[in-house]
Amino acid sequence: MCGIVGYFGKRKASEILVDGLRRLEYRGYDSAGVACLHDGSIAVVKNPGKIKELRQKVSDTATLTMTESRMGIGHTRWATHGPPTEKNAHPHLDASGHFAMVHNGIIENYKDIRKGLASEGIECISDTDSEVLVQLISFLYKDNLEDAVSEALQKIKGTYGIVVMSDHEPGKLVVARCGSPIVIGLGKNETVIASDASAIIPHTRDAVYLEDYDMAVITEDGMEMCNLQRAPVSREVTEMDWDTGAAEKGEYEHFMLKEMFEQPQSIRNAIRGRLDYDMGTAVLSGLDFSARDAAQINRVLVVGCGTSMHAGMVGEYAIEEMAGVNAEVEQAAEFRYRNPLITPNDLVVAISQSGETADTLAAVREAKQKGAIVAGLCNVVGSTIARETGRGVYLHAGPEIGVASTKAFTCQVSVMLMMALKIARTRRMPRHDGIEFARWIQKLPDLVERVLAQNKAIKAVAQKYAKADNAFFIGRGYLFPVALEGALKLKEISYVHAEGYHAAELKHGPIALLEECTPVIALLNNIPGKDKTLGNAEECKARKAPVIAVVSEGDEGSADGFDDMIVIPDCPPAIAPVPTVVALQLLSYHIAAARGCEIDQPRNLAKSVTVE
Ligand code: F6R
Repeated sequence: MCGIVGYFGKRKASEILVDGLRRLEYRGYDSAGVACLHDGSIAVVKNPGKIKELRQKVSDTATLTMTESRMGIGHTRWATHGPPTEKNAHPHLDASGHFAMVHNGIIENYKDIRKGLASEGIECISDTDSEVLVQLISFLYKDNLEDAVSEALQKIKGTYGIVVMSDHEPGKLVVARCGSPIVIGLGKNETVIASDASAIIPHTRDAVYLEDYDMAVITEDGMEMCNLQRAPVSREVTEMDWDTGAAEKGEYEHFMLKEMFEQPQSIRNAIRGRLDYDMGTAVLSGLDFSARDAAQINRVLVVGCGTSMHAGMVGEYAIEEMAGVNAEVEQAAEFRYRNPLITPNDLVVAISQSGETADTLAAVREAKQKGAIVAGLCNVVGSTIARETGRGVYLHAGPEIGVASTKAFTCQVSVMLMMALKIARTRRMPRHDGIEFARWIQKLPDLVERVLAQNKAIKAVAQKYAKADNAFFIGRGYLFPVALEGALKLKEISYVHAEGYHAAELKHGPIALLEECTPVIALLNNIPGKDKTLGNAEECKARKAPVIAVVSEGDEGSADGFDDMIVIPDCPPAIAPVPTVVALQLLSYHIAAARGCEIDQPRNLAKSVTVE
């Protein structure tokens, strides 16, 4: 979603800001802008559209303020209130032009504030909720910027990550956060602020993550932190360990392609040191509970959104099957509002690549408030969910830049399988079964390599169906969540209308939509229920729908009579989702490429959904 960058230092601010915004592009946006302060005045350049157009506009703006400034703020906006126009793009200025601000989040009471400002003769010009905040700061300003910011923030309801500057006090940036992440990178003689570490890592590894209601005041003398009531607070400086190369495309045409091919390595990183082949269990120290605690768990509730929720569904099946513990998956957005029944022996697992998804975070808070044991499965180190859960397992997938999640999903499933193994071994799973399952988890990178090796063949299948405007993915058991995930990938990046269905469910309605131009991707791997799915695929074929049969190696005969075949290495049912989803990721990717879609930044999508 929206992205923030701020810079204070000795280098040319406009360049660092635009470069930082480029690194945040993957989050999804539809307009962008920068504001620089120099020699007592503020210059703003904004643009609806891509960062490369903004870069051009900035370099065409040859004013001294733009070219000489050593401090400034920048923003990528994902439109919520008002269309993506120049007027609505950030940074926003107050009516006098003396204050500039970038804002992530939503100001819920903006209409009331706007009315109040209007009664003082201050008119907002944009359609955004954000603008009211900079107008309010300006209205409340007496002689100290942080005083005005803290006073204004106490009047708003909602979420924010902001950076503010004013030409009344050049040489000062004020930063604050509530519900929208802000990281402050502390470099040598410079400070880089961002909503996401990827804009900071090229400059420094030392970072401070703001917590809710924190404010930071950055000047030449360094950084001071306080809360909204202006009482000093101190936050640890942490070292960010992501390598900058991981956030570059390298030889690949798209981040998504690169990230799909990184999966053998990212899964290796996710499982490294976490499997005990002797005891046949998983060592997940971040979960911070003993075998005895694990044995007390009454129920596991997995919460997440989108792809992360699909990974949770695989975990649900594995925990119930292997550990015999009641497990459920719930859409995080639903969990918060339906007043779920929770007991102290319930383990709530929040799955989130970004660790910032608003609905998942809200579910975490609800579960904590209700006294559950709460754990996070996050990829982004230091993210809000990782910090608020306090216990959990990092995915170690590395930065995922492509908006469509790929390597995070396979790492999430790998970690969920290890979690299932850990709980199972405290219950009914015998040691030798545990050892065997741990060995299968260890083989995941190799299984994925074998699917990636079929890239060319999968591309050929994709090209055959690239013109279809509708598609169905069907599967059952462990492959049902994979069918959902396959359909999600296809619709996200290729804009093909795709539905994931339980194979048995198709004939309860959707089969009415099948026709010659509607391919059905049938997940026919060798797992319990395969024969029934085979029957369902035949039903599709009988309605003239072309069927792409995904089958296990050694069982190619199951594809007989169907139109195309993708072969997945044979493996146990709980393991099968990982190699199978990789084939579906490649299929979606090549369909999207053949349709000429913007794969890394699909329209309307944001990488991290920080609003409800
Ligand atoms: C799909 C995708 C989304 C995310 C969802 C949750 O490719 O990326 O469905 O999975 O928005 O995001 P996180 O995992 O960051 O909580």
